[in-house]
Amino acid sequence: MGTPSPSACMEIKDGTHVAKVVLMPGDPLRAKYVAETYLEHPVVFNDVRNMLGFTGTYEGKEVSVMGSGMGIPSIGLYSHELFHFFGVEGIIRIGSAGGVGEKVNVRDVVLAMSATTNSAYPSRYGLPGQLAPTADWEMLRTAADIADEMGVKTAVGSVYSSDYFYYPDPEVSEKERKAGLLAVEMETAGLYTEAMYAGKKALSILQVSDHLFKPDHLTPDEIRTSFHEMMEIALKTAVR
Ligand code: ADE
Repeated sequence: MGTPSPSACMEIKDGTHVAKVVLMPGDPLRAKYVAETYLEHPVVFNDVRNMLGFTGTYEGKEVSVMGSGMGIPSIGLYSHELFHFFGVEGIIRIGSAGGVGEKVNVRDVVLAMSATTNSAYPSRYGLPGQLAPTADWEMLRTAADIADEMGVKTAVGSVYSSDYFYYPDPEVSEKERKAGLLAVEMETAGLYTEAMYAGKKALSILQVSDHLFKPDHLTPDEIRTSFHEMMEIALKTAVR
């Protein structure tokens, strides 16, 4: 047995631990790729349900990377456990998103300042009215500064975290556009809700891979290049 905990879905392997800051792609195999490509001395700390988590170092500082799974229930569960049971102070989601806003283009990196959602998840703590799931300001500012230093164009604003990938009603996208939302994805509102109620930090850094109103989309080669930019922003934010 590793570290004893009330965790339902993770078990920390003997002799391993989770870093204070965790990067979370949706896909656990992406977490493995990130660990093997960017971290020094990565060690697996969790493999329950194949939701692989690794701890290693970047620029000499410890950082973890672990899959979140897809959708708000999945990232809500894992971020809750990381924040409450494993001493994690900050989580940076790294993922893809569909562009919605006119000013947002495929290839841009979106820093999600807040996340509007059709999910019931933000109401789970019983606040009257609607919670506005919001990023940690320090993390957001750090990531924006780092992107500027790297010369990477970012769009900063609200994204739409949807419970659905396939919409029966195409007008929904138009409503998202009219609301000034930048992009649509499926996890950020759950992550921000958990971070806010835990008193911890969270930020979503999203690569625009397609656009709901523009025909453009990333080629496989471009996915690799812009993924690298997003990763560098996320890793430098994690250790700064
Ligand atoms: N992730 C990437 N593109 C997306 C889209 N169009 N909708 C939801 N999540 C996405």
